[in-house]
Amino acid sequence: MKIPHLGLFSRLLILFAVTTIIISICIALGSFAITEQRAKIFISERQTQLYEMLQQIAENPLDKEKLKADARNNRVSIMVKRGTQLYSTADNFPEFSALTAAAQPIGNLFFSKVGSKYFLYASFDDTSVVVTSKIANLIVYPEWLILWPWIVAILVLMASYYVLKRLLNPIGQAIESAKRISEGDLAYRITVHPKTELARLTTSLNKMAADLQKLFQSKNEMLMAISHELRTPLGRMKVSLALLQQNEITADLTSDINYMNDLIGQLLEGERLQQGSRVLNIATYYLPTLVDDVLSETRLSERVEITSALPEVALRVDVGRIKFVLRNLIQNAIDHATSEEKVKLSVTITEPSLLISVTDHGPGIPTDMLEKVFTPFFHAEDINHRSTDGVGLALFLCKRIAEAHDGQLTVNNTAPHGCQFSFSLPISCIAAFE
Ligand SMILES: Nc1ncnc2c1ncn2[C@@H]1O[C@H](COP(=O)(O)OP(=O)(O)O)[C@@H](O)[C@H]1O
Ligand SMILES: [Mg+2]
Repeated sequence: MKIPHLGLFSRLLILFAVTTIIISICIALGSFAITEQRAKIFISERQTQLYEMLQQIAENPLDKEKLKADARNNRVSIMVKRGTQLYSTADNFPEFSALTAAAQPIGNLFFSKVGSKYFLYASFDDTSVVVTSKIANLIVYPEWLILWPWIVAILVLMASYYVLKRLLNPIGQAIESAKRISEGDLAYRITVHPKTELARLTTSLNKMAADLQKLFQSKNEMLMAISHELRTPLGRMKVSLALLQQNEITADLTSDINYMNDLIGQLLEGERLQQGSRVLNIATYYLPTLVDDVLSETRLSERVEITSALPEVALRVDVGRIKFVLRNLIQNAIDHATSEEKVKLSVTITEPSLLISVTDHGPGIPTDMLEKVFTPFFHAEDINHRSTDGVGLALFLCKRIAEAHDGQLTVNNTAPHGCQFSFSLPISCIAAFE
C-alpha cells in the first residue's frame, strides 16, 4: 500500500492529534490508577457498607433482571453462586475455586486477584456474591506497575519531540545554509531534502547559492581580466616615462604609475588568495633567515628590536607571502610610530601555534575600528592625516595569507598607547614538527 504524500501541515496535525489522544488517555489512566495496596485500604475503610450491599444481593431471591440493572448502574459485574446454581452478569468471571484459592480476607470480605483482574466477594450460608469493577480492572495495579501511564506519556512526548525535530530539521539546514552563504561560503549546499513542502525552501537556497557563486565567479573573472589588461599599458607608460627627461612632473607620474601598479598587483593577489591554500607555493625556509631577509630591506632593520632569541626552526610556508606579511606589519608599525622608540618583534612557539607579534608605540587604532583594519581600502585616519600613502589593501591581504596557511592575524591596542599585531601559524608549519 502506498502511503499518500502528506504535507508538513498534515504531518504536524497528525502528530499533534496522536500525541494529544495518547497523552490524554495516559493522564486519565494515571490519575485514576491506584495500587493494589491502596485498593485494599479503600475496601477495608468501606468494609461494612460493601458487606451490607453484597448481603442484600445474597438474601434476596435470585432476580436476574434486577441484578443486571444493579450491575449496569454501579458499573460493575456481579456473579452469584447459590448452591450449585451460578449466575453472572458477565461471562469473564473465573471459576469460584480459583477465587477462593487467591483470596485475601479484609474483615468479612475477601479480595482476590485472578489473572490480571481483581475481585471482591463475600459468602453467606449457601450463597456467595462476587463483584468486580469494570473500571477497577483497568486501574488497580500492582505496586510496580502504578507508574506506567506516566512513563508511556513521557515516552510519547519524547517520540513526538524526535519526530518534530526530524520534520523541522530542514529549517535548521536552511538557517545553516543562509549563515554559510552570508559568510561567503558559496560552495555550501544542502544535501538532504525533505519530502515536505520545505524541500522547495532547501532547493531554492541551493539554487540561490549556485547562482551567487556563478555571479561572483564572473565578477572575479572580469576584475582579473581588467586588472591584467591594465598592467601592459602601465608597463609601457613606465618605460616611456623613463625615456623622457626627468623632472618633477615625470617623478609624480612615475609615483602614480607605481601606485596603480601596486593597486592592480594587490587586487589580483586578493583574488588569487580567495582560493585559500591552493595558491600557496610551499617551500622550506629557515625562520631566522626569513626574518633577516625582511629586516635587511631598506629602513627596516635599524628601527626594529627583536625581543627574544628567534626559534631556530625551518618553516614550511609560502615564503614570499609570509615575507609580505612580516614586511607590511613592520612597515605599518614604523609608519605609525610617533617616537623614535623601536618597533618590537617577537617570534615564539607556544603550542599549538607559532606566534609572530609586532608591537609599536604609535597612536594605536580606535577600538571600534580594530576589526575593520582588515577590510579592503580601509584607513583609520582620514585622508589628510595619513601616515602612509598605501593602497589600503596590505592588511586585508595579510589576513588572507594567514588564513590560507590555517593561521590567524589579529590586532589589539597596547597600554599606554600603540598596538600589537599577532600573526599565528599552526605548529604544523614548522618543518621539524611535521
Ligand atoms: N601599526 C598601526 N598603528 C595604527 N594604525 C594602523 C597600524 N597598522 C595599520 N593601521 C591602520 O590600518 C589601515 C590599513 O593598513 P594597511 O592595510 O597596511 O593599508 P595602508 O598601509 O595601505 O594604508 C591603515 O590605513 C591605518 O589606518
Ligand atoms: Mg600599510
